[in-house]
Amino acid sequence: MEKIIIVGGSVLRGKVRPSGSKNSALPIMAASLLSTEPIILHHVPRLVDIETMAQVMDVLGAKVEWTGDHDLRIDPVGLSSYEAPYDLVRRMRASIYVLGPLVARLKKAKVSLPGGCSFGPRPVDLHLKGIEALGGKVSLEHGYIMVNADELVGAKMNLAGASGPSRGASSNVMMAASLAEGVTVINGAAQEPELVQLQEFINSMGGKVSGAGSDKLTVEGVSQLKGSEFEIMDDYIEAGTYLVAGAMAGEMVAVEGDFSANLKPVLASLEETGARLEVGEGKVTVHGNPRPTAVNITTAPYPGFPTDMQAQMMAYLCRGRGSSVIRDTIYPDRFNHAQELLRLGADIVREDGSAIINGVEELSGAYLMASDLRASAALILAGLVARGETHVRRIYHIDRGYERIEEKLGQLGAEIRRVEEE
Ligand code: EPU
Repeated sequence: MEKIIIVGGSVLRGKVRPSGSKNSALPIMAASLLSTEPIILHHVPRLVDIETMAQVMDVLGAKVEWTGDHDLRIDPVGLSSYEAPYDLVRRMRASIYVLGPLVARLKKAKVSLPGGCSFGPRPVDLHLKGIEALGGKVSLEHGYIMVNADELVGAKMNLAGASGPSRGASSNVMMAASLAEGVTVINGAAQEPELVQLQEFINSMGGKVSGAGSDKLTVEGVSQLKGSEFEIMDDYIEAGTYLVAGAMAGEMVAVEGDFSANLKPVLASLEETGARLEVGEGKVTVHGNPRPTAVNITTAPYPGFPTDMQAQMMAYLCRGRGSSVIRDTIYPDRFNHAQELLRLGADIVREDGSAIINGVEELSGAYLMASDLRASAALILAGLVARGETHVRRIYHIDRGYERIEEKLGQLGAEIRRVEEE
């Protein structure tokens, strides 16, 4: 197993570019199964999760191959199996994205239930509600979601759950409905930029989807979708992570790419901490602000503050002036990183669904254990400003969502390396 070692105290300067968005690429790969012709995707990040999705698609009979550094060719012509097995789905929850396309193309699906994850339960009831509304007969057997449908017929539904809308369920139903008979209206839809990209992709194949970016999606079913060539957007969460790194440890760091419109609440919080930002055409520059003003953050569905940026902000606020509160309304237990930050000397008190971060003057390097993707990023960021060496173990989590993070931070001047664990 590998770990990352960071020697804290280097000053970051220069520019960095985010890769393509993982959370946009994953549903778009699955949506390629809706087509009867090959698909070319550009700006696809090289990540373990992308490889896992490629394996899921391979098992289903589609051919997925890299044709360039970040270019993927997907040939769905051989789609024949309707089963996404436990062994793959347990590795990556996003495998559930094949459910909608399978039901749409084969009128049948058997997809392992993904289960929870290290930061709490992650139900799929809304996915199933949407597929049922389109006419799918859903049952749960031996840990699998089983769906049979004679035909899919457009329907009106509300997919807002108790804790807000679901990006995954809205995407799955958008995909299934795009090949259904008639019109589907999804109220209470998630509004993330990933949904907008998925809509654009489906429409580029000849689909008729509108409304993405609002809470109401309208999908007019078509009989067939064709091949397409499509560019995945920049990863705004990765971009946000580098901006936080720049605020924590930078002199001046420019994060290039087209992401600022998707990251407004994070940019606003950074400014509230006193970090100076320049938002320009195709880049955002951040000036270092090692002792941030304390701020309060509450995560919320898009366009609110993203839960996927909460851990990184916590790492930053550890050295804040005063006490900050972070509340996660989407995943109230997503605070595994807090325990590890304590090992660096942070002062964090956990309460129900939230964490109080009492700023300390300095952090000191320690051995840490990563528990999930964004927690790993947070621990690496904290290591950048901790005195001495920080060793982040179980680093395989970071490779699920950040492409070559040690190289990108290294180019900015961080002293960071990946080593095989003794
Ligand atoms: N929910 C339900 N029922 C469902 C589905 C979701 O109650 O059937 C609830 C969840 O419990 C949660 C909320 O709805 O409270 C949001 O879940 P959503 O379905 O939107 O999440 P997701 O699609 O499973 C995506 C990202 C996550 C990100 C969440 C929230 C992908 C592949 N994953 O998950 O990203 O945290 O949205 O924004 O897009 C990450 O990248 O580190 C990551 C975990």
